Amino acid sequence: MIAPRIIVAPSILAADPGAYDAEIKDVASKGADWIHVDVMDGSFVPPITFGDNIVRVARKSCSLFLDVHLMIVQPERHLQAFKDAGADRLIVHQEACPHLHRTLSAIKSMGISSGVAINPGTPCKTILDVLDVADLVLVMTVNPGWGGQSFIPTCLPKISEIRKEIDKRKLDTLIEVDGGINEATGREAIQAGAQVLVAGSYIFGSKDRAGRISSLRV
Ligand code: DX5
Ligand code: ZN
Repeated sequence: MIAPRIIVAPSILAADPGAYDAEIKDVASKGADWIHVDVMDGSFVPPITFGDNIVRVARKSCSLFLDVHLMIVQPERHLQAFKDAGADRLIVHQEACPHLHRTLSAIKSMGISSGVAINPGTPCKTILDVLDVADLVLVMTVNPGWGGQSFIPTCLPKISEIRKEIDKRKLDTLIEVDGGINEATGREAIQAGAQVLVAGSYIFGSKDRAGRISSLRV
C-alpha cells in the first residue's frame, strides 16, 4: 500500500506577530501545505490571540488552505465571520459544543470544511458519533493555550482508535495532531494513524524552515 502524503500545517501562533504577512509567505514558499490559525478567546483557554482579522490577513498573504482552530466558547456564534474572512476549515472543540453535531453540520452547510478537536483529557468515544459530519478530527497532543509545550504521548492510542473507526466505516475523515510536534513526535503520530501535522515552534523557531517542514514528511 502506498503511504498517504503527510500534510504539514505550520501554526502562525509561533510566527512573528508583527510580520504575519511575511511569515506566512515565507513558510508558503518553503513547502507548507496548509496554514494553521489558532484563535483563542481568553475563556476556553487562558490566552487571547486574535480573531477573524488575522484569518483575513492570512487569506491575502497566500492561497494555501486555511485551517482555523477555534479555541473559543460558543463557536457557533462566530462561524459566519470566520468563513467570510476566508477560512477553508473551521475546527471547533468538542468541550465547547453542547450541540456538536449541529455545529459541525452548520459549518458544512456553509460550504466549507469541518473539524472537531479533542483535548488530551477528552476520550475519543465522545466524537465517534459525529464522524459523519467531521471532515477532520484534531487530536490535541498538548493542553491547548500555548505553543512550545511538550507532546503528551498518552494521546497516541486515541489516534489509533479513531483511525480504526474511520477505516471500519470507510470514511475519508482526516486525523490531525497539534502540540509539541517535531520530527520524532510527528513520526509517532503518523505511525498511530495521523495524516496532518500542525507544528508551530518547530517550524517558525528555526532558520531552516524548509528543512523542518520536509523533516515532518516521512
Ligand atoms: C496550542 C495550539 C497549537 C500551537 C502548537 O494551543 O493549538 O496549534 O501553535 O504549537 P507547538 O507546535 O509549538 O507546540
Ligand atoms: Zn492549533
